[in-house]
Amino acid sequence: MEKVQVKCIKNGPYEVQGTLTIVDANGNTVSSMENRTYYLCRCGGSKAKPMCDGTHERIHFQSE
Ligand code: FES
Repeated sequence: MEKVQVKCIKNGPYEVQGTLTIVDANGNTVSSMENRTYYLCRCGGSKAKPMCDGTHERIHFQSE
């Protein structure tokens, strides 16, 4: 199995790198691509969940 790296961006999203499939709560595939970088919302404010849409900057999300 290929390695997947998850990095917490300070005051921002999770940066996920690798080959993975993202599935929503209903089992629908949101994204499935090989060797790609994804940014997943960590602040809860994105209107494009599970992806980050930059809202964390507008709401001044603090990760610590
Ligand atoms: S972390 Fe970027 S919109 Fe939530």
